[in-house]
Amino acid sequence: MRDADCRTIASPGFGLGLRPVHYPDFLAGPQRVEWLEVISENYMVPGGRPMAMLDRIRCDYPIALHGVSLSIGSDEPLDMAYLADLKALADRVEPLWVSDHLCWTGLNAHNTHDLLPLPYDAPALACVVDNIARVQDRLGRRILIENPSSYVTFRSSDRTEWDFLADMAERADCLLLLDVNNIYVSARNHGFDPVDYLAGLPAGRIQQVHLAGHSDMGDYVIDTHDHDVCDAVWDLYARAIAMFGPVATMIERDDDIPPLAEVVGELDRARAVADEALRSPATAHG
Ligand SMILES: [Fe+2]
Repeated sequence: MRDADCRTIASPGFGLGLRPVHYPDFLAGPQRVEWLEVISENYMVPGGRPMAMLDRIRCDYPIALHGVSLSIGSDEPLDMAYLADLKALADRVEPLWVSDHLCWTGLNAHNTHDLLPLPYDAPALACVVDNIARVQDRLGRRILIENPSSYVTFRSSDRTEWDFLADMAERADCLLLLDVNNIYVSARNHGFDPVDYLAGLPAGRIQQVHLAGHSDMGDYVIDTHDHDVCDAVWDLYARAIAMFGPVATMIERDDDIPPLAEVVGELDRARAVADEALRSPATAHG
């Protein structure tokens, strides 16, 4: 590993995004899954079925909190009410870690429910670093920031996404959630080499990996989370593990969700790919 290992905890292994359709499976008995990730906002209301389910399931599985509304890339003031709710949820769930995305999600208190891209330039970097520092102070923990999938670029961008992420992580002293499918999607959409992306990241700050499927439209690719992980993303994942070592890995599936056994089967493939990449890193490098 070429830089200091800043990760908060060692890899807990292989996990899944917990989706309501699979609540009964996780309550029925042990599954071949070491940890679960939940969407924070789905559990940020007091009471209700989701929180009752999570209270039971977290007795058996470590939980990671993954948010979609932090809007860390906005230059509007952070939503302190949202942060208070997130802190309360983290205090209750005692998660492995808390993550969100490198994006902005709204203006004037209007949430677009989209993960919107930002320019990769010095003002945006300063804004994001400042926001992350404030969030980490408020939560009392380092957070993970996930690389986005994107479909547009900005004329004002003067650096690559991976350079932006590396500087951000160093200056804010935060960790990274590396979505390998998002790298593939953005590489196809923007025409960069995904291996250059991996090579530019600070290995010791990558706490978690996401894997997911996408929709290939031919000329462009959309991050839809409604398909199995494709072979090219498996290859890129092998490269990532060969470069970064064992990293907590999970599969995100948000639409056309198959029975749990099928998703667990796909997670078994992640275990096999990671095992092989760690045994024969030269092969994974191709
Ligand atoms: Fe992701």
